[in-house]
Amino acid sequence: MIRKCLFPAAGYGTRFLPATKAMPKEMLPIVNKPLIQYGVEEAYAAGLQHMAVITGRGKRALEDHFDISYELEHQIQGTDKERYLDSTRLLIDACTFSYTRQVEMKGLGHAILCGQQLIGEEPFAVVLADDLCVNPGGDPVLLQMIELYRQFRCSIVAIQEVPREETYKYGVIAGEMIRDDLYRVSHMVEKPKPEEAPSNLAIIGRYILTPDIFQLIADTEPGKGGEIQITDALMKQARQGAVLAYKFKGQRFDCGSAEGYVEATNYCFEQFYKKEQ
Ligand code: UTP
Repeated sequence: MIRKCLFPAAGYGTRFLPATKAMPKEMLPIVNKPLIQYGVEEAYAAGLQHMAVITGRGKRALEDHFDISYELEHQIQGTDKERYLDSTRLLIDACTFSYTRQVEMKGLGHAILCGQQLIGEEPFAVVLADDLCVNPGGDPVLLQMIELYRQFRCSIVAIQEVPREETYKYGVIAGEMIRDDLYRVSHMVEKPKPEEAPSNLAIIGRYILTPDIFQLIADTEPGKGGEIQITDALMKQARQGAVLAYKFKGQRFDCGSAEGYVEATNYCFEQFYKKEQ
């Protein structure tokens, strides 16, 4: 079954400059917790315990976050501040974290390929931590997808409907509807103009991938923007076998954009932070 989750986190995060000049985008806090921790918590809640992170230059803070900080912990030991570290400590104790660097930022597909040694020959999940997904009172998005994988045993991408004029930001799918929330992918286009988009069903940052994807990525030429695109490799997989697109239950915030980041912050402040205090 699925045991590992890959976190491509090597991107430059240019939309958040200058904040991301010396700090990874994935460490931007949504209230009091960095984006990457929300992603790891979602993976852990879905039963995954091996976290594989693709990092790059200037991303060392990611590794430090999932490690013990002896001096700090010693300082707050025995005070009521200790509880602020509980959520991180739980993940450090329950999960393993491994890291590899993407030396050149050649796109999301290439970042996933860099994880091949960490993942091996097994199906795995992918979380783009800048897409923050919540589903209060229900299963986390990744768990919904893992349950689908148990049934269908093929790669699955999470999708949501977006306004037509925003298709240029996403990979967009077309396919045969096999359930009201599930499509068998027949076509996929990376960042199409609205008039060229095959639908308004956009891929967001949650995937379940079967390990044959690695060879398919390795055989993929750079596509849109000169980057090696995961959508091109997934399209080959869809032609050879099957790829499903799943309209998840829950809400997604695009924290790679300022608007989504602010919305997520307001949401998490009300839903989580205030209730924890
Ligand atoms: P984005 O398209 O959001 O790019 O990447 P970015 O560099 O993070 O941000 P902007 O657009 O410059 O502001 C989507 C995801 O893919 C990862 C990013 O870290 C992010 O999680 N990624 C992208 C890589 O790991 N490596 C790459 O070469 C490209």
